[in-house]
Amino acid sequence: MVKATTSALQNILLEKIQSHGNMTFAEFMADCLYHPEHGYYIGSRDRIGKQGDFFTSSSVHALFGGLIARQLIEMAQILGEEPFIIVEQGAGEGHLAKDILDALQIEDPEVYNRSTYRLVEVSPDNRRRQREQLLRHVDRVDWCAESELQPFTGCYLCNELIDAFPVHVVEKREGKLQEVFVTRKGGELGETVGPLSTAAISEYFAWLGVEPAEGNRGEVNLLAVDWIWRVAATLQRGFVLTIDYGYPSGELYAPFRRNGTVMCYHKHAALEDPYHLVGEQDITAHVDFTALQKAGTEAGLELLYFKEQYRFLMALGFVDKLMQLQAELTEPNQALALRMTLKNLIMPDEGMGSTFKVLVQGKGVGTPELLCHRKISDIPLPI
Ligand SMILES: C[S@@+](CC[C@H](N)C(=O)[O-])C[C@H]1O[C@@H](n2cnc3c(N)ncnc32)[C@H](O)[C@@H]1O
Repeated sequence: MVKATTSALQNILLEKIQSHGNMTFAEFMADCLYHPEHGYYIGSRDRIGKQGDFFTSSSVHALFGGLIARQLIEMAQILGEEPFIIVEQGAGEGHLAKDILDALQIEDPEVYNRSTYRLVEVSPDNRRRQREQLLRHVDRVDWCAESELQPFTGCYLCNELIDAFPVHVVEKREGKLQEVFVTRKGGELGETVGPLSTAAISEYFAWLGVEPAEGNRGEVNLLAVDWIWRVAATLQRGFVLTIDYGYPSGELYAPFRRNGTVMCYHKHAALEDPYHLVGEQDITAHVDFTALQKAGTEAGLELLYFKEQYRFLMALGFVDKLMQLQAELTEPNQALALRMTLKNLIMPDEGMGSTFKVLVQGKGVGTPELLCHRKISDIPLPI
């Protein structure tokens, strides 16, 4: 473990623990990421991309948004000729929104002209960056708080939102689930273990039918379940498209995953100590896609698609687009650089291509065969 450096937020949290007692990991993570003054996502800093702490698929290349736009066009056609609302929650710096709108405008102006792209973002700094990014599409975009969303027809989408929700951390000891709390240790932040802070955690595992194995840690993302219920209630008719890294529960809580999946990111280093660089590093946990599917079904959403990102992007025409982009380049080394960049989006074996999953749920749309359902073997290779 790296020794923690003192930050303003660390001192605030130490005082909070002194006066109010130990915090759950979820409370700690919420403060680290969203404290109104010192939270990682709140102040002005470069988080995404080369100058920041981590890459997201939308920061890798505009092709990611371009391919999602193809799927959105089909969804808009299925929904008919009414206004098409795209809600993106947790849009970061707005790259995905821009790339989707750029592609819609070119590939299907009719759909573009009846679309509204609504951004829901808790970070004031990211809202400012999104506004700058989306100037060209000012007539098509607006912003609101999640609580202000009105029932709509369209697509509710997010990329790497759920992994940024604060999670409870638990450990199985002598057959019993215990919770990890954040405490003071010698004037610094440290951990202790105690009884669960809420019955909702044991109810969650009973509902899921899976638990971490003896001696293992695991995370519980109660907010993800609440969120999918709210999404299902707000979406009148249409689709929910969730992209994130994670696994079905059986894999998430597999015996070999001894320490759970909490990870921190700072200047492109993946760190395991959340008590280091408090408020200055991103903290995430892998998403439980079984929980999202199961809660979604209970909330009235139909499971339409769940696969790895590489299958999703290939089905939407990844190779085709790559060839198009390559053809626009004159220098062989530019083409090589393009291929090397784009490869990141589809790399399997722990790369973005397979760690990231794509979940599509529907409401009031039946079970349509979507473009993303195409099998890789059925896609004609471009000549
Ligand atoms: C890892 S970033 C995602 C980046 C972006 N989607 C991309 O593709 O580059 C997480 C984003 O979700 C936002 N966020 C976290 N919780 C949120 C919530 N409850 N509502 C809206 N935005 C949220 C953060 O402020 C941040 O912009």
